[in-house]
Amino acid sequence: MDARITNLGARNSYLNQVLFELRDTEVQQDRMRFRANMEKVGEILAYEMSREFPYEKQHVTTPLGELDMDLLASQPVLVSILRAGIPFHQGFLRLMDRADNGFISAFRHHTRGNEFIVKVEYLALPEITGRTVVLVDPMIATGKSIVLAYQALLEQGHPEQIFIGAAVASEEGLEYVLRHIPKARILVAAVDHELTAKAYIVPGLGDAGDLAFGPK
Ligand code: URA
Repeated sequence: MDARITNLGARNSYLNQVLFELRDTEVQQDRMRFRANMEKVGEILAYEMSREFPYEKQHVTTPLGELDMDLLASQPVLVSILRAGIPFHQGFLRLMDRADNGFISAFRHHTRGNEFIVKVEYLALPEITGRTVVLVDPMIATGKSIVLAYQALLEQGHPEQIFIGAAVASEEGLEYVLRHIPKARILVAAVDHELTAKAYIVPGLGDAGDLAFGPK
């Protein structure tokens, strides 16, 4: 796999249990559990991602002494695509609780048959120029939404570093993302191999937005 991609699911950890539940049609009946599990994946990915952020020394005084510690050099900007991204974003934010936040709405506009275009409609962003931006999307299927979201971000500023976090990605989607955002570092919890004609990931987990919030 490309060195810019880290597939955390490829190593055994507690993440397996969480991914299992996210995929399992029986556990999926409980929307609250689905959202909680998506938050957990976000939190775990955020921790792993934070190991690659820039750090700088800060002096701290404890009741018994003093020491230098490495702290984040600056706070990242967490950006999510609505609506499926909400619980996943919340998981990242639980760890990166001083991050600034941005939101993008992107939706599939079906043209004919299985064909669709992804449209970006709403963008609420803090200053991103020179900053570490973490773009999170629970599902990277074709990769088109995340690339469009990134292109929309670039109209507002130029991040120093771009990290992408996903719960489940397709191989094809990851290739597409890296072709269009070559400087991205991508952390995923699972990589699946297939896409349906309607661009759903197989085996995947289904429609993450509907499973978290109900059908639309
Ligand atoms: N979005 C989803 O929610 N699921 C997929 O499989 C693909 C995109």
